[in-house]
Amino acid sequence: MGSERAEFAPATAHGLRAERKNDHLRLAHGQATAREAGAARSDFDELQFIHHALGGIDSADVELSVEVAGARWPCPLFINGMTGGTDAARGVNRALAAAARETGVPMGCGSVSIALDDPRTAPSFTVIREENPEGIVFANLGADRPAADAVRAVELVGADALQIHLNAVQEIAMTEGSRELGGWRDSLQALIAASPVPVIVKEVGFGLSRRTIDELGALGVHTVDVSGRGGTDFLAIENERRGDDGFAMLAGFGQSTAECLLEAAGREDVTVLASGGIRNPLDAVKCLALGARGVGIAGAFLRVALDGGGPALIDRIEAWQGQLRALLALLGAPDPAALEERDLLVRGRLLEYCGLRGIDASALARRRPPAASLGTQEPGSESGEKT
Ligand SMILES: Cc1cc2nc3c(=O)[nH]c(=O)nc-3n(C[C@H](O)[C@H](O)[C@H](O)COP(=O)(O)O)c2cc1C
Repeated sequence: MGSERAEFAPATAHGLRAERKNDHLRLAHGQATAREAGAARSDFDELQFIHHALGGIDSADVELSVEVAGARWPCPLFINGMTGGTDAARGVNRALAAAARETGVPMGCGSVSIALDDPRTAPSFTVIREENPEGIVFANLGADRPAADAVRAVELVGADALQIHLNAVQEIAMTEGSRELGGWRDSLQALIAASPVPVIVKEVGFGLSRRTIDELGALGVHTVDVSGRGGTDFLAIENERRGDDGFAMLAGFGQSTAECLLEAAGREDVTVLASGGIRNPLDAVKCLALGARGVGIAGAFLRVALDGGGPALIDRIEAWQGQLRALLALLGAPDPAALEERDLLVRGRLLEYCGLRGIDASALARRRPPAASLGTQEPGSESGEKT
């Protein structure tokens, strides 16, 4: 963000809510920095592609674009919803929007309810369209908001889609959080009905279970973002904000992004997006191979934007786009959907999860290998050994 680098000054005018937004930026930045420096385990490390040395294609033959929520994205990556509501957030959104404009990736913003309730904070959201008038932008709301807010949120941001977040774990961990979670189905349904644009229902880092996705499908939701555990950790953030260990006992609660995708694989009714703990393009490719149509990044891109500003984020996203193309060429995938036919081993704790949840991990390891067209036999392939 260069000269607009956020200073995280304590919020004055907008009170506790604005202070929370700045806390989230500061603490999420700290977590992302620590994740990059450390070697924390990720469930993505327990997924491994089988390498077929003759299976590659020319990278020029790779088409990265995907269709999501009624729009064509130039590649499957997107900047996930993060912030708004303060001066610092405005600077962050300006940097993210500039990067989205230059790279063509869609971007979300943080929950706009702060601006719907206090219009003085609106410029921290409208800055996104100022920077990126033509790009694909999502507005963002909590599931408990009144139906009329769907239209207000979309108009404020000039949004192409509306992200609605389900953040029950975060609410419970926040001192000032809601304890009234029982009405969410009804309010969500009303928001969906009122939204003038496609809706994307998302978690915020604790994952969507198969049951939740079933329920969302029944409510008429066509696109979900599993946003699983493994990256930005709002339990840790809210516990730190509380200053006590209030809900530290919940550490590790929820499903990782890889676990969510394994559960959601093969659905025809709902388009699945992946986010939560994406560290690099290989993690993104693994998500695509597990059936995700798009892959969202929040914490890792926030870290780059805060430390290096918009230009650094442009460089990072362009590098990821190039690496994504190279990885698809290596895996012989002419487009992201073709990755769903690539052999993928599930190991360790992730394999244990599959066993407990009734997911056939061996089928993933023996999908349709590129060599099949040459008439060779793979273990467990149709013409090979029967399992
Ligand atoms: C600073 C920050 C603020 C966030 N605020 C919101 C929000 O207002 N609404 C929302 O749906 N998700 C919010 N998220 C969650 C992200 O969209 C994403 O689901 C989550 O961070 C997991 O992705 P990551 O591991 O790549 O960070 C926020 C994330 C960060 C880092």
